[in-house]
Amino acid sequence: MAYDTILVETSGKVGVITLNRPKALNALSSGLIRDLGAALDAFEANPDVRVIVLTGSEKAFAAGADIKEMAGKSYMDAYLEDFITLGWERVTKCRKPVIAAVAGFALGGGCELAMMCDMIIAADNAKFGQPEINLGTMPGAGGTQRLTRFVGKSKAMDMCLTGRMMDADEAWKCGLVSRIVPLDDLRDEVMKIAETIADKSLPIAMMVKEAVNTAYETTLAQGIHYERRVFHATFATDDQKEGMTAFIEKRQPSFTDR
Ligand code: CAA
Repeated sequence: MAYDTILVETSGKVGVITLNRPKALNALSSGLIRDLGAALDAFEANPDVRVIVLTGSEKAFAAGADIKEMAGKSYMDAYLEDFITLGWERVTKCRKPVIAAVAGFALGGGCELAMMCDMIIAADNAKFGQPEINLGTMPGAGGTQRLTRFVGKSKAMDMCLTGRMMDADEAWKCGLVSRIVPLDDLRDEVMKIAETIADKSLPIAMMVKEAVNTAYETTLAQGIHYERRVFHATFATDDQKEGMTAFIEKRQPSFTDR
């Protein structure tokens, strides 16, 4: 299927979505969010796709929600449309692992979109920020909540109140991104990570994702309880038998997703 605002391709077991509104630095218009949701639906339904990569251009992952589209909205427009909730949250509902490959600007909704993914790999030119306060508004796609969980209160306050940008190095030091790679290597490195994950058992990878995400939604005791239940459940799978047998027999496992 062809989209207006994104490019979609598959490479082996990996589905790649590239945000593609270069003239607007990939500003996240409602059309783009619709396209993104449709592409995610298609990759989720495609059994050949095991991991999804979300990326932008070298200059911008995304410079935020589309300010030109938002500028004239009234409170009632925003409220009645349920602006942001519908569409954007689709990313967080993905059951397959999703990696954000971020080069250039990831600002406002762009930073929030990256944080909705399961991990962020940053190019060395990446810049993150929640500059909404400069526009007389505030983060509306989870920035005050997810950024605080990623980097803690003091730095989240710093970012959201000053509207400043942080570079890739600072983002790595404070735990917002998991790895930094040279810009020229971003695609190759992210594909290697995606392929590594794609070679695992998909249902087990999905269970891991669910369990890690549970850490954000519950108390520690409930999270540990949830983890233990899912851990025990993995013993009902063929892939656990295969993985452990392969280890003992000193060979690579051959997972069947069962
Ligand atoms: N929405 C709409 N258009 C945008 C945009 C955005 N978020 N960001 C950039 N653009 C457009 C610019 O208007 C410009 O278009 P024109 O050529 O038609 O004028 C084009 O992209 C290139 O931008 P610049 O000329 O500004 O490029 P630059 O290299 O000088 O600056 C920048 C880059 C620092 C990222 C700057 O564009 C910028 O500050 N953008 C806005 C960032 C921002 O405030 N994001 C938060 C948006 S609000 C939000 O996201 C709410 C939420 O939580 C959901």
